[in-house]
Amino acid sequence: MTRGETGAAREAGELEAALKFFRQWLREPRSVAALAPSGRVLARHVAAACGRNARRVVELGGGTGVVTEALLERGIEPRHLLVLERNADLHAHLARRFPEVEVAAADAFHLVDAVRAARGLEVGRVDAIASGLGLITMSRDEQRRLMLQSLEVLRGAGRFVQFTYVPRCPLSPELRRELGLEARRVSWSLRNLPPAFVYVLRRRRGTALR
Ligand SMILES: C[S@@+](CC[C@H](N)C(=O)[O-])C[C@H]1O[C@@H](n2cnc3c(N)ncnc32)[C@H](O)[C@@H]1O
Repeated sequence: MTRGETGAAREAGELEAALKFFRQWLREPRSVAALAPSGRVLARHVAAACGRNARRVVELGGGTGVVTEALLERGIEPRHLLVLERNADLHAHLARRFPEVEVAAADAFHLVDAVRAARGLEVGRVDAIASGLGLITMSRDEQRRLMLQSLEVLRGAGRFVQFTYVPRCPLSPELRRELGLEARRVSWSLRNLPPAFVYVLRRRRGTALR
């Protein structure tokens, strides 16, 4: 295959994935939460925000695998990456695309059970969670439940990385205070459609494990 053909094949694959994603958005707009998969630049920002030393990573809401690919390109070993995707069609797509990665047809609200069942990860020892979920459209109670599950699987200094389409942290200051979290906007991608902002949430120093 020539270089041009490789590029053309990649573009055809991306177009097919985008159409698949869009069809799922038509079926489940609130859950899929975006019209199109993230762009590659945003995906690289999300992977970078997991931290240089991250080894064990969970991705929530893999979609068509743009962030999964960026995590693997950044050096996360497939055996230490767990991807959760609850949409059946997108889960099947991810499992086909990344046969070496553990892709669970699981709900992020049951993250602790999913990590417990995973081959290469342990509860309490995950370095980073890369979330593609629509946190901003969740109720306060849903956000709290998701973050409590996430904090249980992360190690003490672990990071919860979230991209969002508004330039503010999707968790309210009250909820952050309640959970002992600090938030930092670490990057953004204005060329993404829509433009997106990447936040890192971590436990404040001295905050007890929840
Ligand atoms: C905004 S899309 C992001 C997809 C991909 N990470 C990207 O950046 O292109 C959100 C994804 O999360 C999935 N999802 C939504 N709620 C979920 C849940 N509770 N558990 C697992 N996956 C979920 C959706 O099916 C969708 O694929």
